[in-house]
Amino acid sequence: MSPIRPAAVVVLAAGEGTRMKSATPKVLHEICGRTLLGHVVAAARALEPAELVVVVGHAAQQVAGHLAQVDPAVRTAGQAERNGTGPAVRMALESLAADGVTLDGTVVVINGDTPLLTSGTLGRLAAAHERDGNAVTVLTAEVPDATGYGRIVRDADGSVTAIVEQKDADEARRAIREINSGVFAFDAKLLAEALSKVTTDNAQGEEYLTDTLAILRRAGHRVGAAPADDHQEIAGVNNRVQLAQARRTLNDRLLHDAMLAGVTVVDPASTWVDVTVEFEPDAVLLPGTTLRGATRIGAGAQVGPHSMLTDSVVGEGARLSFTVAEGARVGTGANVGPYAYLRPGTVLGAQAKAGTFVEMKNASVGEGSKVPHLSYVGDATIGEHTNIGAASVFVNYDGEHKHHSVVGSYCKTGADNMFVAPVTVGDGVYTAAGSVIIKDVPSGALAVARGQQRNIEGWVIRKRPGSAAARAAEAGGPDE
Ligand code: UD1
Ligand code: CA
Repeated sequence: MSPIRPAAVVVLAAGEGTRMKSATPKVLHEICGRTLLGHVVAAARALEPAELVVVVGHAAQQVAGHLAQVDPAVRTAGQAERNGTGPAVRMALESLAADGVTLDGTVVVINGDTPLLTSGTLGRLAAAHERDGNAVTVLTAEVPDATGYGRIVRDADGSVTAIVEQKDADEARRAIREINSGVFAFDAKLLAEALSKVTTDNAQGEEYLTDTLAILRRAGHRVGAAPADDHQEIAGVNNRVQLAQARRTLNDRLLHDAMLAGVTVVDPASTWVDVTVEFEPDAVLLPGTTLRGATRIGAGAQVGPHSMLTDSVVGEGARLSFTVAEGARVGTGANVGPYAYLRPGTVLGAQAKAGTFVEMKNASVGEGSKVPHLSYVGDATIGEHTNIGAASVFVNYDGEHKHHSVVGSYCKTGADNMFVAPVTVGDGVYTAAGSVIIKDVPSGALAVARGQQRNIEGWVIRKRPGSAAARAAEAGGPDE
């Protein structure tokens, strides 16, 4: 079957989605890194239709603005009054006509709230429609629970006669488990004709797109149904329970593909990925891991448990545990966490380490360099094979501006150092524990920048007589 390029795909997204009970329009709710509408538009775009129109109404500017970001070539058509899926499609056709576009051939109509639909299924629907020479072909599925969906009514010889909405269905029809997915392929000319005959004579007083089936059939045209391979694909999202179910289904699908491509997912139930995440073979995801946006996990790298990576690139064989990373790049074989926070602009070289309770931002850490414990590295460049002592801070902010610091290669800085930016530390430098480095340190130097220690002998016995400390001192300490 050669791929069908429809004359147009129309996506319906004008509804408010009241059942979501949300300030956000329903179609802008997200699952797996895209909005519901974003998923539908991506599947529609893959068909390479000549025209792709989204009908907007509720929060039209917000929805149109989102579309301009995710797919600037999408046209929008306004539906001022939410008077049904019938008028919604009519608005799309009228706006195309107003722009001088004449539709000839197949028009695919999709509800904006069916994010699990694949382009493969859409393509098969359009192909079956054209092969059978139908006026309309509806994508259907047998579902375990048909509540809320329009039911597919067939006559004695099995051909489709009508779609009856839940609210208009009697007992017998409610028992039908074959449902309308809200996805149709229409002949463009016959669609326009049928839409002009749709009435509001139903329980909701709306003009139903679904009535076009019975209208076309009565007019003597061929009406068909194409069952979807997987009923999960056509699940509509009307409330947040269904939103969670759709997210779970899509996530399962993404992990399934990743596993078959060689990724180990220890606990698929607690691992969440976006559609945009990429993996190389032998990546390992431990429980409680969420990967978002343009994240890429290299071959043999291990992420988790309990990590969240956004727009981050993890090199081959790297390990990240209990880590939150955003816009970070982690080099080959690098080690991160447990309990690390890598913020945007963090670049860890090969075999580098950002250890426990370490935060980094706009920081580059060279090959083999380590920041193992309790440190903040902000706006800094650290060379290769340097070790930053525990509890060190790159003091990058003077209250007004951020400044950059540099530490060279093969340095060993002491514990509890403050590097007050802007400051430059050369190569092969040692610094003493507890130093506040405010001046540049030349290569090979030892920098000591701390107060001298003073011991006031006998102070506790004199000033805290009778205390437990004093008694312990009198009994003799390790120095006696
Ligand atoms: C619709 C179908 C139902 C089908 C189900 C599949 C109709 C009458 N019913 O029901 O047969 O089983 O989808 O999920 O078509 N919309 C507009 N303008 C409007 C009304 C709705 O653009 O005036 C859009 C909505 O934003 C939504 C889509 O059309 O994306 C479907 O509307 P919705 O209210 O969710 O219809 P359902 O009750 O789910
Ligand atoms: Ca719906």
